[in-house]
Amino acid sequence: MSSLVLFDKELINRYEQSGPRYTSYPTAVQYHDGFNWEHYVHIARETNEDLIPASLSLYFHLPFCSRVCFYCACNKIITKNREHADPYLADLSREIRMQGELFNRDRQVDQLHWGGGTPTFINHAQMRQLMDTTRQHFTLRNDDSGDYSIEIDPREVEDETISILRDIGFNRMSIGVQDFEPEVQNAVNRIQTPEQTSKVIESARKSGFKSINLDLIYGLPRQTVGSFHATLKKIAELQPERIAVYNYAHLPHIFKTQKQINANELPSPDEKLEIMQDTISFLHEKGYVYIGMDHFAKPDDELAVAQRNNTLHRNFQGYTTHANCDLIGMGITAISKVGQCYAQNVRTLEEYEKSISLGRIPVMRGIKLDDDDRLRRDVITRLICHFHIKYSEIEEDHYIDFQDYFYNELISLHEMEKHGLLSLGKDGISILPRGRLLIRNICMVFDKYLRSGTAKGTYSKVI
Ligand SMILES: C[S@@+](CC[C@H](N)C(=O)[O-])C[C@H]1O[C@@H](n2cnc3c(N)ncnc32)[C@H](O)[C@@H]1O
Ligand code: SF4
Repeated sequence: MSSLVLFDKELINRYEQSGPRYTSYPTAVQYHDGFNWEHYVHIARETNEDLIPASLSLYFHLPFCSRVCFYCACNKIITKNREHADPYLADLSREIRMQGELFNRDRQVDQLHWGGGTPTFINHAQMRQLMDTTRQHFTLRNDDSGDYSIEIDPREVEDETISILRDIGFNRMSIGVQDFEPEVQNAVNRIQTPEQTSKVIESARKSGFKSINLDLIYGLPRQTVGSFHATLKKIAELQPERIAVYNYAHLPHIFKTQKQINANELPSPDEKLEIMQDTISFLHEKGYVYIGMDHFAKPDDELAVAQRNNTLHRNFQGYTTHANCDLIGMGITAISKVGQCYAQNVRTLEEYEKSISLGRIPVMRGIKLDDDDRLRRDVITRLICHFHIKYSEIEEDHYIDFQDYFYNELISLHEMEKHGLLSLGKDGISILPRGRLLIRNICMVFDKYLRSGTAKGTYSKVI
């Protein structure tokens, strides 16, 4: 049932709007600078006193890229100068030490992720050093049972890189592909041959990586249904365990490099929808399950299994099977989710350096959640991950009467029910196959900040 998703063009057009992706709730636009490093430190220390302290998830942001992809909306710094990594890694090591001091050593690291930018911009010695420093200050799992993943740009790996990454503890990787067609690659300044990609996959399998994800983007310039279908066919031959197909977010006023994309070459909204429709049916035909929000997985992949068992969760890196970790984000722009707060690090190298040199965790802004935030986050997360909620489960966990508390929200959902997106039963809410692609719209109903008009963000289109 969880793989059932129905593409309904009329409905998608009717609900066309921009909205958050809910990697956090409240979303980043609600974070504020009244929340500082001292608040973060206090909350982080308190988590050690929990009855059963959560295990840990570590995220490291490695922002450098040696060339720019015009579409890119990631937090990155473009530089050819590899020496830029040295001072950054020195500061990152100091942050790792400061963060490590906040958490008891009996709290194991179940999840670890290097993201970017391009994590493999740094050299092999620096990679080993970074993982060694992490091991000195946190308790990593040594039995390969954690989810330790890294984002790989196949243009930035040398022959031994993949086996070194495996050797230092990684067992999952996410590879950026975006599109295989030379026309599209030229238009976005990312020339990457299918051979470069397959070589990395082969090397990963040989080295014993457990799971490989490939990232694609639809809606890029010069893409057509036919051209993207050709890319999808090559992707299916590579047999990745997971595939992410992101909707291109074209926001050139925010992401300046996107100005180099010729807007006249972007596929029309209609063509984009057709690309998406074709993607869903093709991947379904090839045996992939739709997990939700851009993500597909093989039916025996942990994500698909967790979705069937109602144990799937979601964090800044997307879907995960580790529900209750405290997530510590390190490096510029990284976001932590620790105890009942979110905290985001400073954006620039200068601010980062300054804060670290003062011996402060470089928190720039954040938010402490109140009971209402926690309740709404729970509802939104369950809807995104499981496509249904049972009122009684939420009521038991949050001591509320669901239908009473969410009286107005349920009235809004009635309209969606009439359109076939969901069904409102007496025990709970189920998202129907037609509503699954519109899950962001459904979650937006439960977002207090959007409802009250206090969320002032620029969001990407939901479809
Ligand atoms: C943090 S990036 C890092 C990936 C890595 N540096 C690489 O390029 O292979 C992760 C993914 O975000 C996606 N992405 C980047 N910019 C995007 C945009 N404007 N719209 C949608 N997805 C985007 C791409 O699929 C990319 O692989
Ligand atoms: S897509 Fe990856 S390699 Fe390209 S600019 Fe963005 S982070 Fe760098």
